[in-house]
Amino acid sequence: MNILILGAGGREHTLAWKLKQSKKLSQLFVAPGNAGTAAIATNLEIGVTDFAAIKKAVGTHNIQMVIVGPEDPLVHGIHDFFLNDAELKAIPVIGPQKAAATLEGSKDFAKEFMMRHKIPTAAYESFTAESLEKGCLFLEGLKPPYVLKADGLAAGKGVVILTDLQEAKNELKSMLVDAKFGTASTTVVIEEFLDGIELSVFVLTDGKNYKVLPTAKDYKRIGEGDTGLNTGGMGAISPVPFADDEFMNKIHDQVVKPTVEGLKKDNLPYKGFIFIGLIKVDNQPKVIEYNVRLGDPETEVVIPRIKNDLVDVFLAVANGTLDTIDLALDERTATTVMAVSGGYPEAYGKGKEITGFSEVKDALVFHAGTTLSDGKIVTSGGRVLAVTAFGADHKEALKKSYDNIAKLHFDHMYYRKDLGFDL
Ligand code: AMP
Ligand code: GLY
Repeated sequence: MNILILGAGGREHTLAWKLKQSKKLSQLFVAPGNAGTAAIATNLEIGVTDFAAIKKAVGTHNIQMVIVGPEDPLVHGIHDFFLNDAELKAIPVIGPQKAAATLEGSKDFAKEFMMRHKIPTAAYESFTAESLEKGCLFLEGLKPPYVLKADGLAAGKGVVILTDLQEAKNELKSMLVDAKFGTASTTVVIEEFLDGIELSVFVLTDGKNYKVLPTAKDYKRIGEGDTGLNTGGMGAISPVPFADDEFMNKIHDQVVKPTVEGLKKDNLPYKGFIFIGLIKVDNQPKVIEYNVRLGDPETEVVIPRIKNDLVDVFLAVANGTLDTIDLALDERTATTVMAVSGGYPEAYGKGKEITGFSEVKDALVFHAGTTLSDGKIVTSGGRVLAVTAFGADHKEALKKSYDNIAKLHFDHMYYRKDLGFDL
């Protein structure tokens, strides 16, 4: 079958790499893709929210399945767009419909969902400009640090954690009244601070059945020792060594099961990945967020550990027969280290030639912000390459990721050298 992947990052290159291994695949398309996907698939110059152009491409290339990488098209209703179009409705889309995608599109909606289905999460209240004063009073009643979350999508920047009460009040005002994050901060969720270690659990569901995919942990800060600005993610490890069977059972019973059952009860159709962000507090899982897609760079360690034919798995999601799939996982640990452009996550240069690919051994290089220019592979984004390797444990895998990332070069390349420091 012909498949289209929407997106342009390391997540999409990894999905493309995995789908290429399927005997059921005929032609693979990625829109818009990057230099990595160009080497194994056909890139289409289409934006991920240009639904009309996507429809046209589906017709032109006889595409029979669409896999949605990022959240934007889902929150904008790409799955509903397909279902509501007579020519497209038979084509499966992997990714939830708009109503369920609101779990990522609105933090307030996600918190209400968790409350309704008794899923453990931080205590919270939501505020708007009209209730700014109440919000300030609520902050006074909390212990620092203060966690403020813009309700809507804010490109990963909408969560602000502050230790000073006055600063927190100022921030609340700036979000609500001065629209610091535009309409995304029309509503702000103020939340109890959770002190613990983070991990993510990935679930794939057809709306009734579900499979728990490997756990992963990403490293979000730019600086070593988890310091400095937040990024999209500087690397990841799967599985998470502290998520033992006992803890995973708690996650399953208290979080995963009630989440999938809650989607059903609330009549929120869902065929796709659920990314559950958790903090382990006193050996209990608490949900800090839902994303309605795979994570990046978590995908670069989660997907390579799945041994099944991914086309079979996606067909089962589309057909509602995920219960017939036996998930086979690689027991080894996978790690990925992200090479980024110097300056990221603030201003950085682009168009730097990348070399060294042929020297990489025993590792996978997934492209994120890369493009082709005059036949050369050059940088085109902040996060540029993810180097994934396997090992018996995270130390062995990381050593291979690091040995190989050192063989790759571009001007002002930077990567964190301390991944796994906290494990
Ligand atoms: P989010 O965008 O919801 O993933 O939040 C970004 C980051 O803020 C998370 O990865 C956590 O490190 C942190 N965070 C979010 N909520 C809380 C909380 N209630 N307590 C402590 N840290 C949090
Ligand atoms: N790595 C975090 C994310 O994809 O949101």
